[in-house]
This record gives sequence, C-alpha cells and structure tokens, in this order.
Amino acid sequence: MHPIDSVISGRRTHKSFGGAAIARSTIDELLGLAIMAPHHRLSNPWRFTVLDQAAIADLASWLPQQDAIVNDPDPSKGPRKVAKLCQHYFPQLGAMIQVTALRCADNPTVDDEDHQAVAAAVQNLLLAAEARGLASFWASSPALRHPSTLRHLGIDPERERFVASVWLGSRVNEPITPPRLGLAEVTRYLSGADDE
Ligand SMILES: Cc1cc2nc3c(=O)[nH]c(=O)nc-3n(C[C@H](O)[C@H](O)[C@H](O)COP(=O)(O)O)c2cc1C
Repeated sequence: MHPIDSVISGRRTHKSFGGAAIARSTIDELLGLAIMAPHHRLSNPWRFTVLDQAAIADLASWLPQQDAIVNDPDPSKGPRKVAKLCQHYFPQLGAMIQVTALRCADNPTVDDEDHQAVAAAVQNLLLAAEARGLASFWASSPALRHPSTLRHLGIDPERERFVASVWLGSRVNEPITPPRLGLAEVTRYLSGADDE
C-alpha cells in the first residue's frame, strides 16, 4: 500500500460542504499540483478561473436572471435546477474553479489530447484537495458550462472548451463509494501464444 492509494480511493464526489472559505494559498497549491499532469507537446492547455465566495455569490445572483441559460437545454427542468445550484449548493462552497482547455481548431488530434491533459489536471486537483482533507465535486451542469456563463466569467468559449466546474469546500460527511464494475469486466490481458 502506497500513501497515494488511500488518497485515490478515498476521493469522493461530495454534495455537501461546510461553507468555510478556502485560502488563496491553498488554491495555488492545488493548481500547482493540477498542472503537473502530462501534457503532450508541452502545450500547457489548462486554464483555471477561480471564483472565491463573493464571486460565487455574484454568480448566484446573476444566473437565475438569464432565461437563455436557465431554459437551455430543458425549459421544464432548468429553472428548478438553476435554483438548486444557486440557493442550495453555491452558499456551501469555499471556492469554485472553472477548468477549461485551450482549443486547437485546426487539429482535432491535438484538440483531443489537450482536452485529455486537462481532464488529468482536474483529477490531480481533486486528489490534491482530498489529500488536504477538503471536499470536492467535479460538476458539469449545463448552466455552468453554457457559453454565456463562460463569457460572463471572462472565458472566451471560442478559444477555450469547458472541462469541469470544480467545487471545493470544507468536509462535512463521507459519501459512500459508488460501485465500479469488477476488473475482470473491464480488463483484457493479452499474453504471448507460448504462455498457453
Ligand atoms: C466529466 C464528469 C462530469 C461530472 N458531472 C457531474 C455532474 O454534473 N453532477 C454530478 O452529480 N456528478 C458529476 N460527476 C461526478 C460523477 O457523478 C461521480 O464521479 C460518480 O458518481 C462516481 O462517484 P465518485 O466520484 O464519488 O467516485 C461528473 C464526473 C465527471 C468525470
């Protein structure tokens, strides 16, 4: 057992947070570890937009008034979902980090690889948060990835692709671990013919 094993297996998606702010120095540590993810061609494709509690409160005031966002893609559910985001979740958070990947419009392979590198950076971020006893959540709700929301936060959706809205906060509980398929169901071992 390596020390990192318990961090990896202990990380959970938290849906309750204690409401304490997260210090800028802690955010800087987490982001410094996030960007240690592999990145092909040393492309540094990750971009982070960090919202402190005041910025999250501003977003909570702005978002419900944006009918074009609230009703996209489902006007029958959108208003209830956005109200839950803004009234229930946002006030509990210590920080929110919108994580985006630089787009590479003229090369789909590079675009893919850069997106994958940023997803790896998100996992680093979550694990670094876990190791510090923080609660985290990789969220991707339509309202938070909407191009108009990105623009409102100073992100140009033509240049950057949404990857994650990482929610961070103090820990209030230990969520159960959702089951995974067994390794036998997801793994192929290939061995040379002379092993038979
Ligand atoms: C790309 C991505 C997007 C996700 N978006 C959401 C989301 O919008 N809402 C949500 O409840 N969980 C979201 N999750 C979290 C997963 O639901 C969660 O990882 C899964 O239930 C397994 O739980 P665990 O993270 O505790 O192991 C997302 C995870 C990933 C990788």
